[in-house]
Amino acid sequence: MKNSEKATQEKAPAVNKNKNLIVEPAGDAAAELRDLFIDSLKDIYWAENALVTALPKMAANATSAGLASTITEHWIITQNQVTRLENIFELLGEKAEGKKCEAMAGLLKEGDTILTETVPGAVRDAGIIAASQKIEHYEIASYGTLAAFAKTLGENDAAKLLTQTLAEEKESDCLLNEVALNAVNIVAAE
Ligand SMILES: [Fe+2]
Ligand SMILES: [Fe+2]
Repeated sequence: MKNSEKATQEKAPAVNKNKNLIVEPAGDAAAELRDLFIDSLKDIYWAENALVTALPKMAANATSAGLASTITEHWIITQNQVTRLENIFELLGEKAEGKKCEAMAGLLKEGDTILTETVPGAVRDAGIIAASQKIEHYEIASYGTLAAFAKTLGENDAAKLLTQTLAEEKESDCLLNEVALNAVNIVAAE
């Protein structure tokens, strides 16, 4: 062991073994990785469906034509992603059903709040981009994990489809960056 490693180890705080902090699993808790995988698919299926409903409102509130069309294009892609998830459920022999995604519900609520708290124009647009990028980053994290789970479970066809969606979410994040850098942030700062 290197000296630096030794020093880090010595400084590391003791792991808290307080039994009161241990969480009891619910009756229907996932016992296998496959169960967690299916649960996570239901979570993102709920999230994508919620986005199909929410994105038109974001686009309608955008003043920049570039931002509105970026969101509208992603809305169409999102509808395809819902269908793709249904195909994945079918591949896995599971029923396509959603389970409320608390994280997406929270992100969408925050997006609504930003609309209320900003005047239409460049400032609201900057807020819409911020909210949209938080959503994309949540999706990137989710699909990255889902694709990794699928690969680990040997579900290669599902992994391929999940990786496809992951690429679309990354692309959407890049496009939002471009809109922000090219126009909205500059005008909002004026
Ligand atoms: Fe999506
Ligand atoms: Fe997305």
